[in-house]
Amino acid sequence: MNGEALLSARNIEASYGPVLALRGVTVELRAGEVVAVLGANGAGKSTLLRVISGTIAPTRGEVRLDGEPTGAAAPDALARRGIVHVPEGREVFPLLSVRDNLVAGAYLWNNDRRVAADFERMFEYFPRLRERQSQQAGLLSGGEQQMLAIARALMARPRVLLLDEPSLGLSPALVKEIFAIVSRINRESGVSVLLVEQNAAQALALSSRGYVLELGRIVMEDSSARLLSNEDIREFYLGIKDRGLRGERRWKRRKQWR
Ligand SMILES: Nc1ncnc2c1ncn2[C@@H]1O[C@H](COP(=O)(O)OP(=O)(O)O)[C@@H](O)[C@H]1O
Ligand SMILES: [Mg+2]
Repeated sequence: MNGEALLSARNIEASYGPVLALRGVTVELRAGEVVAVLGANGAGKSTLLRVISGTIAPTRGEVRLDGEPTGAAAPDALARRGIVHVPEGREVFPLLSVRDNLVAGAYLWNNDRRVAADFERMFEYFPRLRERQSQQAGLLSGGEQQMLAIARALMARPRVLLLDEPSLGLSPALVKEIFAIVSRINRESGVSVLLVEQNAAQALALSSRGYVLELGRIVMEDSSARLLSNEDIREFYLGIKDRGLRGERRWKRRKQWR
């Protein structure tokens, strides 16, 4: 057992009825790290985050925070201990204003001054949210809703932020913007990030290490730099056949059309 891990999930199995979604998955996150979990659609990425956040119970294995098993704790209790989950699909409260969505994220803190300071911090990270603070969240663009979902999670002052496919459905420019903000928040506040993504290129640019999940199993784990230069990763996850720069440019153009 690695005593240094802030968060660890060991030998996790999870299923939905007869569907075995995770088949013995082990991942670790150290304090201050950004770690990516890559994998195709259906690989089990969201299930892994649901197990870590206490949304679903694993059928085997355990999650530990600071070496302490999280047991059957509910998401609320785990959020209090510092694990906060931003689920896929940017769930914001559509009828509430941007500001009230952020207030909802701070429900753990009964401290107005602290909440006011955190507002200011979120608006500094996400200037678009400041401009739209009194608008209904449901009227924001997809990118702004993703920013709000992340900002709302940060209002709980997590130690571990679980991010489920923040890039989904967003333009490459917006993805870049959001990932740059996440990177800044990680550097400045020290929050550790477990980032689940199909967008391997962006995720590996942000993270220091990564895992590759296939059909409920970890099939590879390495530094992000080594994963980025791994031939299989390049071909299957980045769509790059190693024919030099020209292939890469073609890939970039193709991604922009998606
Ligand atoms: N709520 C659910 N009910 C039944 N099966 C599910 C549910 N969510 C996910 N699954 C199945 O579990 C497996 C892993 O899914 P998921 O964790 O969502 O993968 P990913 O996030 O990598 O796309 C898939 O086979 C998927 O069909
Ligand atoms: Mg998913």
